[in-house]
Amino acid sequence: MTKNILVVHSSLNGWRSVSSALARSFVDQLAAQGAVRVKHRDLAVDMLPHLDAAAMAAWQVDSEQRDAEQQILTDRSDRLIAELEWADLLVVTAPMYNFAAPSTLKAWVDQVVRARRTFRYVDGRAVGAMQSLQSVVITTRGGFHRDTPHDNVVPWLSTVLPFIGIEPAATIYAEGLATEKAGDSTQQAESELADLATQMMNGGFEYVAA
Ligand SMILES: Cc1cc2nc3c(=O)[nH]c(=O)nc-3n(C[C@H](O)[C@H](O)[C@H](O)COP(=O)(O)O)c2cc1C
Repeated sequence: MTKNILVVHSSLNGWRSVSSALARSFVDQLAAQGAVRVKHRDLAVDMLPHLDAAAMAAWQVDSEQRDAEQQILTDRSDRLIAELEWADLLVVTAPMYNFAAPSTLKAWVDQVVRARRTFRYVDGRAVGAMQSLQSVVITTRGGFHRDTPHDNVVPWLSTVLPFIGIEPAATIYAEGLATEKAGDSTQQAESELADLATQMMNGGFEYVAA
């Protein structure tokens, strides 16, 4: 069965972006092994505004009572959530900017993590709505930060994506891109993504991280 893949790009480096190139090569590997439909959302091109008070308020108004402005603000979030609902696999690229994820990625997360829409509290516990969606995170850095207290990218994504029900399948790192290790590191990431693509396609996307 054809699988739907949503790729979220967040690098400011356009066609020179390492994280975007890794994501594209991963998707190409998946496409070479089975039927896939791919949608790319480039947050550096279609930039989202910061979540503000007006949007937050609009989301809380019942649909039949929203004014035109509130409807526009709600439609933006609904469209982004609909892309997640369409997808079987979410590929998130996350370069490290100032020890955190790009602010464009935070703006996207703030639009799709929405109370009573993508999560709700049941018996005091948060339950995410995106239960049939898996994610692969591809993170790139100039230096080396994996498993250190200054990595605020992976711990954040590993918390917020499952919060709305998205199951993390894998996190792929390309570190040291500003150092002489750049080539090795990128090659290693490419090879990990190629293996992951094969495992995912062989398992009909029922891949579960070891
Ligand atoms: C504004 C900015 C801030 C950055 N901050 C960091 C940082 O805090 N730590 C780090 O290791 N690399 C940092 N870098 C380097 C990027 O992480 C690296 O160039 C990027 O991950 C490469 O991915 P890309 O080609 O997909 O953009 C920064 C780069 C930019 C443009």
